[in-house]
Amino acid sequence: FKTLDHLDAAGKKVLLRADLNVPVRDRQITDATRILRLLPTIQELAQKGAKVIVVSHFDRPRGQRVPALSLGPIADALGDALGRPVTFVDDCIGPAAQKAVDSMQNGDVVVLENTRFYPGEEQNDPELAKAFAALADCYVNDAFSAAHRAHASTEGVARLLPSFAGRLMETELNALNIALENPERPVGAIVGGSKISTKLDLIGNLLEKVDMLIIGGAMANTFLAAQGVDVGRSLQEADMHDTARAIMTKAHDRGCEIVLPVDAVTATDFQADVPTRIVPVSAIPADAMMLDVGPETVKLICTKIATLKTLVWNGPLGAFEITPFDAATNAVAREVARLTDAGVLKSVAGGGDTVSALRHAGVEGHISYISSAGGAFLEWLEGKTLPGIMALENIFERALPI
Ligand code: 3PG
Repeated sequence: FKTLDHLDAAGKKVLLRADLNVPVRDRQITDATRILRLLPTIQELAQKGAKVIVVSHFDRPRGQRVPALSLGPIADALGDALGRPVTFVDDCIGPAAQKAVDSMQNGDVVVLENTRFYPGEEQNDPELAKAFAALADCYVNDAFSAAHRAHASTEGVARLLPSFAGRLMETELNALNIALENPERPVGAIVGGSKISTKLDLIGNLLEKVDMLIIGGAMANTFLAAQGVDVGRSLQEADMHDTARAIMTKAHDRGCEIVLPVDAVTATDFQADVPTRIVPVSAIPADAMMLDVGPETVKLICTKIATLKTLVWNGPLGAFEITPFDAATNAVAREVARLTDAGVLKSVAGGGDTVSALRHAGVEGHISYISSAGGAFLEWLEGKTLPGIMALENIFERALPI
């Protein structure tokens, strides 16, 4: 992979594709992780004397110039995090962007406006890609979390300029490689979430790669129901029973162990602090819902995890947003953190809910790697080739060395 190690950046205009799509509520950034993870690449490029031209999408303005979705405030936050001023330009191509780039000194950082204000961004319009390319000498993609999108600033422009992976991209790809492509075995995965139907490709790909699949969340209800367990009023997908059985057969044939809940925390309402009952899965009351896996299942999962050398985690085990249904996710997260800290487990987690759940459990700093990606992490778990990464790889063979 060509990285910043291969780029002689001094004096070069570098178009840096970042993912500044950070969560914002009431105009406040609620989680600056993506900004912080980007700093090493910007700092390195600036220190080497590059002119750093940052481009990113923000949210989904669908090709319209939506003032509330300007990258301006996020550019300010980036400047604060860098501890130095960055110039914000209210367009990402055209005369304003060109003028700002022309007046840059080596080591300067400019942030351009939301790329999705142009419909050509999501259409991967070659004209827009050309306009991005015209601003710079080379392209650095540090937006692993947007690499599943074949957009003008993630894919199109990589065809036109000598292209390199940024430090965050490199770190993400190395971590994912350690987790699934070349893991220390045995390797297991925890997959949670509500629906099998949205994670079919992911489960299908994981079955090929892991030795153990631990299933939690409402998805587990469907697997149990498919085995004839009466799950009461629990969320489940009745039309996925055949699929669930086929997955279990395939896992069995491949020697991949499937771990399902043996007990559950149940309630008649999905609300905070409702009366709950812990029951074996064979005795779910007809009027109740399974909202978390139970303590026996936590013990079982912890025993199983202790046999692994590598663990990939996507999706919480229960409805963790509401107490007390966060108990199992918290307990398993703490055990994963303990084993990771002890150096006996490599743990990699990703996907929006998973990161929130690990943060909620207070173990964020005790996981070997937490991906900054949501959808891209899922597509990678599905075994898909991400267009943003493919473009980087292809271009390596074609681009002239810089
Ligand atoms: C993300 O937050 O997952 C990325 O920034 C991609 O955003 P998108 O789903 O709007 O393409």
